Order: sequence, then structure tokens, then C-alpha cells
Amino acid sequence: MDLLALVAAKLEEDAERGDPIEKARAFWREHGRPEQHTPEGDWNVWLILAGRGFGKTRTGAEDLADYMVSNPGVRCAIVAPKFGDGRDICVEGESGLLAVLERYGLKPGEGLTWNRSLGELILDNGSRAKLYSAERPGSLRGPQHHRAWVDELAQVVLKAPETWDQLMFGLRLGQHPRVVATTTPLPVSKVRELIDRASNPADVRLTRGSTYDNAANLAGVVLDELRRRYEGTRLGRQELYAELLTDVPGALWQRAWIDADRVQRAPELVRTVVAVDPAVTSGEHADETGIVVAGQGVDGAYYVLADRSVRTTPLDWAGRVVGAYHDFDANEVVIETNQGGEALATLLRQVEAMLPIREVHAKKGKRVRAEPVSALYEQHRVHHVGTFDVLEDQLCTWTPEEVESPDRMDALVYALLRLSQGSAAEAFFTELARAKGGTL
Ligand SMILES: Nc1ncnc2c1ncn2[C@@H]1O[C@H](COP(=O)(O)OP(=O)(O)OP(=O)(O)O)[C@@H](O)[C@H]1O
Ligand SMILES: [Mg+2]
Repeated sequence: MDLLALVAAKLEEDAERGDPIEKARAFWREHGRPEQHTPEGDWNVWLILAGRGFGKTRTGAEDLADYMVSNPGVRCAIVAPKFGDGRDICVEGESGLLAVLERYGLKPGEGLTWNRSLGELILDNGSRAKLYSAERPGSLRGPQHHRAWVDELAQVVLKAPETWDQLMFGLRLGQHPRVVATTTPLPVSKVRELIDRASNPADVRLTRGSTYDNAANLAGVVLDELRRRYEGTRLGRQELYAELLTDVPGALWQRAWIDADRVQRAPELVRTVVAVDPAVTSGEHADETGIVVAGQGVDGAYYVLADRSVRTTPLDWAGRVVGAYHDFDANEVVIETNQGGEALATLLRQVEAMLPIREVHAKKGKRVRAEPVSALYEQHRVHHVGTFDVLEDQLCTWTPEEVESPDRMDALVYALLRLSQGSAAEAFFTELARAKGGTL
């Protein structure tokens, strides 16, 4: 054997016997595609905008595993739309953190502990990863982190926009805290903002890719199914090729309608309502309470005046509803009482005894309720007075196939239905009653 062959054989033997951490890293260096490797140099956010099955989750998990193993004692956050997604996909899934850590020779009881009910993974080197979700954005208030991974960012911020801000606020440990965000692209304002920021690569690194980049690692049936469902469709441009569409196919609202009819001031209004889609739970688990103010102008058009939605206790949102009622000199408060029933009116009247309240009980499906309102937009009869980022994101990304509908959208729908359905005569009598300080 010549000397060179001897050296090569020795190196190979060392690598085989060698440090499992080095081996695990070498594996990903070899098997990960270049665009899946954590970028070198300075950056604050690494945004991976890619199609279904690209390997987004795997990339996030590989980055975090390497970081936790290489930096003993660090605190990391994993953020997913729902706690169950975070647990089942980001940590326990086939391309999740536990699967990747196993390659580093670490598994539960051997180098790490995983508390699945708390969503906490602790390595023996002291590094921790804790799971958070858009279901409980409040739990991100307080804890501090060195690094974070947000999986399905677009869904996270659609569900609870404050999640990102809370996360950023606590991302302040160590020399250079960073976040890796992996997502299928949806045209929501946070994603667009990050794409804009990528013009400065020292701030945001942007990686884009399609489903087909990972074709070699996707089961044939999966690929066939994705192809069958999306190829050649507009939705496919988003789901397979990660194109950021202006509009979500199937969504009832289009951004262009809202933009075209946006105004800076409303004319004189003949009638104004505050509509509420209430969250009946409170505390960290509370849903958002949608609170939207809209009015009808002397010109007959509708004006969306404010989005005061909030995630808080019932007594607190009741106070905000009454506050909006006064600030906008509204005629009535429209509140959905499917859950909570009469107690909701009682709650509001605790804050303001004479508050004119219109209770609505939503019996029809969400599509049936939302369609006439989206038709008003299409006819250019609705104007947003100023910009309401989160509300507009919710309108333009919700498709009727989704079971849950976003709270701000629901409140807006109640407001505009009320304004458009109530006849002029009814409005007159409501006004009369209001002048007398009561309800009809
Ligand atoms: N470089 C790679 N080498 C081998 N397998 C890979 C690679 N990248 C990803 N995979 C595998 O491909 C499959 C899909 O990856 P992953 O679940 O990370 O994709 P995704 O983009 O998050 O998909 P989804 O859109 O469904 O969330 C997984 O089994 C993952 O382990
Ligand atoms: Mg994924």
C-alpha cells in the first residue's frame, strides 16, 4: 500500500471511530442540499420559503440540532401554529428534532430528556429547546432565547400575529441571537416584510425552493399526489413552486379590491356599528376577540374604521368594545352569541348599562355569511379607512374550505352584514332610540 492510500485509509478509520458529533455534521454536509445548509456570515433571520415537501422542517431541525449540540447550555424556542403540530412534526416527526438528534447519538434517556406534555427537550450538555405555539402566544412573554425556529411562519402569524413580536423581544441571549423561519408562502404581511428585508443579507437571508428540489427524497406516491393535486394550477405555483401569489386561490377577498378602494378619511357617516366575535375563554389560552368598527357613509358606501381586536380577559375586551362604541360614536354593538349566550350582553352591560346591543346567532355556514360581504368589496362598495394589516391578511388568505375562520374576519363580516341588511327605516328608529338613550 502506498503512503497516500495509507493516509486515506487512516482518515476514513478515524472518521468511522470518531466523534459522533463530527460524524453527524459530516453526514448533513454531504446529504443536505446546499440550500439546506445554515448560511455562513451575518444574518438575523434565515427565511426558507419553499414548496410542500421541500425539506423545510428537516432543514429547521438540522439547524437547531447542530446549534444545540455545538453550544452547551443554550436556550432555544421552537414555534409552530399549534402545540400538537410542534410536538408531532417539529420534534417527534420523521424529519423532526428527535430524529436528527439520534444521528448525533442522542436519544431519550441517552443524552437527552424529552418531556412531551411540557414540550421541553433538554440535552445533557444543558441546551434546551422549548415548544411554543400560536395557540398560546402569551407563553412567549418572559422567556429569553439564544435561537429560535419557527415552522410554518405564515400560519403562525395568521393565527396570532403577536407571536412573532413576542418571540423577537425575548430573543436576546448570547452574542448573536437568530431565528430560522421555514414556511410555505402565503401572502401575509410578515412574510412580505421579511422578503423586503432580504435586500440586506446581513439582516435576512432568503432561501427559496420548490417541491421538486427534494423529489429524490419524497416517496413516489407523495410526489404523484402533490402533482395530481396542484400541477398546472394557480395554487400549485404557491404550494409546489413557493411563488408568493398576490392572492390565495379560492380566497373570498382580493387584495387589489381593498387597495383600490382604500381611503384616508371617511365621509360623514349615517350609521356606525362595533362588531364583536368574542372569545369566551381567557388567560393564556384565550382566542382573539375580533372587534371591528364600520360605518355607512352619506354616500351609501361602507367604511371600515378600526380593528381593535385583542386577546385578553372577557371583562377587559368588554371595556374595549364600549371604548370603541364611544370613540366612534357608534349606534350599536353587534355581538355573536353562539357561545356565551346571554352572559355576553350581561357582561357588556356591566361596563355600560344602556349599551344598545344586537345579538346575532350565527346559524348559517361561514361561507354563506362571508360571501355577500366579499361581494360588497368586489362591487367597490367597501372602503378601508387606513390600513389594517392583520385583518386584511385574514380576509385575503381565508378560503371557505377551512373549518375555522379568523376572528377579525368574523367581526368584520358581522359589522358589514348588519350595516347592509338593516334598512334605512330601521336605522332611523335605532337612531331615535339611541337619542333617547335606549335600545329598540
Ligand atoms: N437533503 C435531504 N436528504 C434526504 N432526505 C431529505 C432531505 N431533505 C428532506 N428530506 C426528507 O424529505 C421528506 C420531506 O421533508 P420535510 O418534511 O422536511 O419537508 P417540508 O418541506 O417540511 O414538507 P411539508 O410541506 O409537508 O411541511 C422528509 O422525509 C425529510 O426527512
Ligand atoms: Mg414541514
